Amino acid sequence: MGYEVVLPAAGSGKRMGAGKNKLFLPLANKPILIHTLEVFEKDPKCTGIYLAVKPEEREYIQNLLNEYGITKVKGLPNGGEERQHSVHACLKVMKDVEIVLVHDAARPFILQSVIDRLVETAYEKGAAIAGVRAKDTMKKVRDGIIVETVERDDLWAIQTPQAFRFELLLHAEDVAEKVGFLGTDEAMLVERLGYEIHIVESSYENIKITTKEDLVFGEAILRNRQLKTSQ
Ligand code: CTP
Ligand code: MG
Repeated sequence: MGYEVVLPAAGSGKRMGAGKNKLFLPLANKPILIHTLEVFEKDPKCTGIYLAVKPEEREYIQNLLNEYGITKVKGLPNGGEERQHSVHACLKVMKDVEIVLVHDAARPFILQSVIDRLVETAYEKGAAIAGVRAKDTMKKVRDGIIVETVERDDLWAIQTPQAFRFELLLHAEDVAEKVGFLGTDEAMLVERLGYEIHIVESSYENIKITTKEDLVFGEAILRNRQLKTSQ
């Protein structure tokens, strides 16, 4: 049960405010991008990696791949204006793939066990995405005033990876492009076509490195993992 993975990596990291692509920032002396790539490099079921990149960063990224011995990258197409365009650019150059995972390059802490369950569920059911149960009380607010408290038991915070039968996701992306629909994740594009999407419970560690504080959380997650493995 193999799969290939799309890693959108062509963002600018505006909210990080580092003046460069946040994926090049280090966590425990290694670029965030490499932490993420190593997860898939090590997974024997992953048979190919596609990275969407900015053209001006391609050479720098290729050098990183060589330096850290990442061998599974099959394509580095140009990313687009929005994340959805970057993912689509990868899908367009992929061939003979049954199951595709889309995973933010900025989520380096994804667990192998979650990847395994996503791939299994995508094979069985067609579409599966990672998420965690909401921890906080959630309220809908308009103009600074509470409109309602939303039933928390029904609420999940959605992450990546998102796993699909390849043909289904490509079709959903093509339709979205045609009608000019922009979603914030892949599932939205598939949902709107009426398909059922299954949720796989993930871990709260699978954060997206977005702002400066996330670098502190990220270092803490890595330290905690090192402690656990040395015990
Ligand atoms: N991404 C991409 N192409 C874009 C925008 C984002 O490939 N046009 C990628 C990012 O590189 C990241 C992932 O999508 O790995 C999730 O996006 P996000 O966390 O929003 O990263 P950035 O867009 O880089 O950050 P910001 O929104 O703060 O500018
Ligand atoms: Mg962004």
